Amino acid sequence: MKEPFFFAVAAVTIDGFIARFPGHKSDWTSKEDKAHLHKMEKAADVLLLGRASFEVAKKKLSKKNCLVLSRKVNGIRKKTKNLTFLNPKSVDVKKFVKDCGYKKICVLGGRAAYNYCLKKNLLDEIFVTIEPIVFGKGIPMFDSAVKTKTFTLVLAKKLNAKGTLLLHYKKK
Ligand SMILES: NC(=O)c1ccc[n+]([C@@H]2O[C@H](COP(=O)([O-])OP(=O)(O)OC[C@H]3O[C@@H](n4cnc5c(N)ncnc54)[C@H](OP(=O)(O)O)[C@@H]3O)[C@@H](O)[C@H]2O)c1
Repeated sequence: MKEPFFFAVAAVTIDGFIARFPGHKSDWTSKEDKAHLHKMEKAADVLLLGRASFEVAKKKLSKKNCLVLSRKVNGIRKKTKNLTFLNPKSVDVKKFVKDCGYKKICVLGGRAAYNYCLKKNLLDEIFVTIEPIVFGKGIPMFDSAVKTKTFTLVLAKKLNAKGTLLLHYKKK
């Protein structure tokens, strides 16, 4: 059986933040990035999120297949037909998605999901949109030390006149 394919999607500021604070809505990202994000979500069989990011986007995600990382559950807790909470301390996420038959996993963040996948070497591709703004302080995409991971640029595209950039990388 083919291995599941994990791709991360993130919008970051010039200084590399995904939000100013926990619960910060993505009202600072461009409409072009939002269109890209929806396309990415549509291309996936399931979305992987940290619990805080899920809480922020819960309404919008209600009809999508979601796996939510949380330390508050013991193993696997299926909440509804399309919503499952997982604790990666006792659950191997890759094995779980494989057993469920999911082939394309969109890693939507925040740090819990990005860092878990980076550490486990699961990120096959990364789509980063750089918005031309600076927060100075905030939540970084990655914040956990790992052995250096190398990626290759597949595509760099300017999305709009103000200079929002979409960078698409794949694992080397
Ligand atoms: N710009 C972007 O592309 C982007 C993408 C995603 C999110 N965001 C924003 O980022 C913010 C949230 O990000 P965040 O990094 O603070 O939170 P997050 O990673 O989405 O969620 C944090 C939660 O995940 C769970 N968690 C953390 N580490 C874990 C581990 N090792 N094992 C299991 N569960 C773990 C915990 O939930 P429990 O308390 O349930 O244990 C923790 O409270 C929001 O404002 C959101 O809008 C932005």
